[in-house]
Amino acid sequence: MAEQKATNVTWHNHAVSKAERCQLNGHKGAILWFTGLSASGKSTVANVVDHRLHQMGKHTYVLDGDNIRMGLNKNLGFSAEDRAENIRRIGEVGKLFAGAGVLALTAFISPYRKDRDAVRALMEPGEFIEVFMDTPLEVCEARDPKGLYKKARAGQIASFTGISDPYEAPEHAELRLDGTKPIEELAEEVIAYLKSKGLI
Ligand SMILES: Nc1ncnc2c1ncn2[C@@H]1O[C@H](COP(=O)(O)OP(=O)(O)OP(=O)(O)O)[C@@H](O)[C@H]1O
Ligand SMILES: [Mg+2]
Repeated sequence: MAEQKATNVTWHNHAVSKAERCQLNGHKGAILWFTGLSASGKSTVANVVDHRLHQMGKHTYVLDGDNIRMGLNKNLGFSAEDRAENIRRIGEVGKLFAGAGVLALTAFISPYRKDRDAVRALMEPGEFIEVFMDTPLEVCEARDPKGLYKKARAGQIASFTGISDPYEAPEHAELRLDGTKPIEELAEEVIAYLKSKGLI
């Protein structure tokens, strides 16, 4: 994990509490952490859920893998160390969103259990909702919208999750979605979960 390099830093408490922000928004803040293989449907389902929640008047935001890798995390690659730092930063950003009373939806492969668990540990109980997009590798590979599996099979991408790099499936995800079901059905399962937990 990242070392604390800065010295002489002191935490300054916020004048407006998280509870007050959530009260103003009319719902809780949390991270919905989508994890799964490339092309499993994380971005697709996260965006449908985001859209539906937005229409319901909820405050949401999607943090998506490639977008973050083009900006905040552009200096990180795909080694296990860089993947860990990628996820650590997203976790911290997600925590800021949740602290602002927003439902943050993150769509990262996040293949390592310990990296996901480290984000869970940052959050208060019930604020980290791990959503396992459980889509068989064959289905993901057949979809291959970015042509990445084809490249990985041809040996043109090193460290590709599911092919030449491991994916550690969650053991205690709050939600497991069967990624072969229709997209709208999966989005509904997520919304139903949020309602059942009183998050929205
Ligand atoms: N439930 C589904 N049924 C059919 N097709 C789907 C489903 N979910 C996603 N797809 C399709 O699969 C492709 C990959 O989905 P998506 O881009 O959401 O994957 P991802 O998990 O975000 O992948 P990556 O990690 O590479 O960003 C898209 O073309 C999408 O339309
Ligand atoms: Mg995606």
